[in-house]
Amino acid sequence: MKQLANYVNCDDYLKGAQKIFEQQNLSHHWRYIHGTSGDGISYRKNQQHFDDIELIPSMLQGGEAIELSTQLLDKAIACPLILAPIAYQQLAHSGGELASFQAAQAQDVGFCLSTLSTFDMESVASLAEGPQSTRIFQLYMQADNKVNLDLVSRAKEAGYSAIMITIDAPINGLRYHEARDQFSLPREIVAQNLVPYQGSFTSGLGHNNDIDSLMLQAPTWQQVAALIEQISLPVILKGVINVDDAYRAREIGAQGIVVSNHGGRVLDGVPSSISQLAKMRDALGPDYTILFDSGIRRGSDIYKALALGANAVLIGRPLMHGLAVAGALGVAHTLRLLKDELKLTMALMGNVNIASISSRQVLTPWHRES
Ligand code: FNR
Ligand code: LAC
Repeated sequence: MKQLANYVNCDDYLKGAQKIFEQQNLSHHWRYIHGTSGDGISYRKNQQHFDDIELIPSMLQGGEAIELSTQLLDKAIACPLILAPIAYQQLAHSGGELASFQAAQAQDVGFCLSTLSTFDMESVASLAEGPQSTRIFQLYMQADNKVNLDLVSRAKEAGYSAIMITIDAPINGLRYHEARDQFSLPREIVAQNLVPYQGSFTSGLGHNNDIDSLMLQAPTWQQVAALIEQISLPVILKGVINVDDAYRAREIGAQGIVVSNHGGRVLDGVPSSISQLAKMRDALGPDYTILFDSGIRRGSDIYKALALGANAVLIGRPLMHGLAVAGALGVAHTLRLLKDELKLTMALMGNVNIASISSRQVLTPWHRES
């Protein structure tokens, strides 16, 4: 058993995971998981812009315990963290999504299952310990709408409480490293949710050999709007980085959005997610559900995203790093570290609960300029 106590933050897990892939001669898997699109400009900005935000603490705010519980889509949740939808988790560990779901439950963190998961949604749901956990199904819209409707109805049947439709990746981004490695999925790594529809699915990992034909099948606002009308669960649109799209999401009945640039994996050159968050909150008002991801590696990053308007954040690559190092235990420990860091940041910032965190407690360079 690895000494998890030696892993004190997400960077330690990143390094540990990279080493494990190297030792197993699976560096091409690592490059897929860790990788960015294009030259990694947006990926680097995601991290850099978190570092550029300054914290303005209020002193002498002791006397109460720190509470991480909050509300999401009108439900009480134990803390504002959700594991992001990440495809093909068995690339990191044989336990895959079963292990990450168990870790999320152990840490009272929400969970979002990718369309492209290596265990199907029913197997993952069978490990649910109670109805209280936030369990979301992420949908990559398929060209055949019957498949979308079937996926959504299976998710509802299996107890998922919301559908997250990812709208920012109709085709893959430029992935130089995958092209150099000629990366393709090992045969045993299969998008299990889509197996019943073999032959009809369109969205998965692969190189964009024919951009035109992929784009002819890519979803449109009209199709997303029509689908939302047929879904009885709350729908959240993931991958919104532009205020006009946020308005449009709300107009067509999405109950929330995820401000995200997909961790810098699709269109390189888009702004960092964190630099767009405050203007989304200003535009959409205080009550609309806004989730956030891309670049969260510290509890203080979570704090900054909450201060700038997120109701909760998605944890992306650190989930795969924890999985690679120690399966469910590694993910649970990663989540524990992030929650403890968030609590410590709140304690030193003078916030006893999530609701009290406000945008006046952070200074952003882009706000200072405007
Ligand atoms: C992803 N992401 C993703 N998003 C999604 O909606 N469906 C998916 O299947 C996947 N798959 C996926 C695989 C891998 C290996 C990564 C790293 C990411 C994007 C993910 O949900 C999230 O938006 C980013 O990971 C956030 O960025 P950071 O925090 O990882 O930098
Ligand atoms: C990725 C896709 C699967 O980021 O969303 O690799």
